[in-house]
Amino acid sequence: MSSDKLMRLSFALKSPSKVIIEFGMDDGRLLKKLIEQDHDINLDTNTSSVTYIGIELDRKQFEAAESLMKNDKNVILLNASFEQILPMFPDGSIDQILDVLPDPAYIDRTNQNSWQSFYKVVYAKLKPAGLLRLVTEITDDLLEPVSDEAYNTWVQWLSQIFRSLGFTIRDSMDGPPAEYSTRCLTQFRGDAERIRMITLDLVKDKNE
Ligand SMILES: C[S@@+](CC[C@H](N)C(=O)[O-])C[C@H]1O[C@@H](n2cnc3c(N)ncnc32)[C@H](O)[C@@H]1O
Repeated sequence: MSSDKLMRLSFALKSPSKVIIEFGMDDGRLLKKLIEQDHDINLDTNTSSVTYIGIELDRKQFEAAESLMKNDKNVILLNASFEQILPMFPDGSIDQILDVLPDPAYIDRTNQNSWQSFYKVVYAKLKPAGLLRLVTEITDDLLEPVSDEAYNTWVQWLSQIFRSLGFTIRDSMDGPPAEYSTRCLTQFRGDAERIRMITLDLVKDKNE
């Protein structure tokens, strides 16, 4: 990370402004919309100043995001792994984290052991009552439509894991938020029977 970005990051963490992070922001179109409309990830208008932070590993997508937000002052974009960046934040320093359609390594059943410990770190870094919004998807192994039964079993499994990490499930919505638009959401919305999505609003205990 450049020393300029490091300085801006450390300044943002010391100031009373809110910190909102998007993991895997891709080309940054959703983050740009939040910034333009001065929204938080619930699409509520911010009442205090905000530093938005977008993290993306893929160089090409990162550069597209940088170009999209080159005139926005209150944003720090990092071409890095959120797994490496997150430990640099002090515990209890982040207001909201947005995680839209994370790669399987960070959410699917087969990788559960490794991503569980990552979300433990996420929990520690959130402020008390801080929010992690996770939008994720289930598909059938044979690419058949996902039944209600399979969908509900999966939602319960996912919810139980996040509860075991300390999160409270404040909200669980079928599908992604209607106003959200990202590259993958556009693609997945076109195949809604075979790719079913959930939005989970996961909050940290307000006394921690
Ligand atoms: C399935 S895509 C979703 C992208 C975007 N959120 C969307 O909805 O279109 C996952 C994104 O996460 C990025 N990614 C994967 N692992 C990452 C990591 N460890 N750190 C930062 N970004 C990562 C990928 O490069 C990719 O852009």
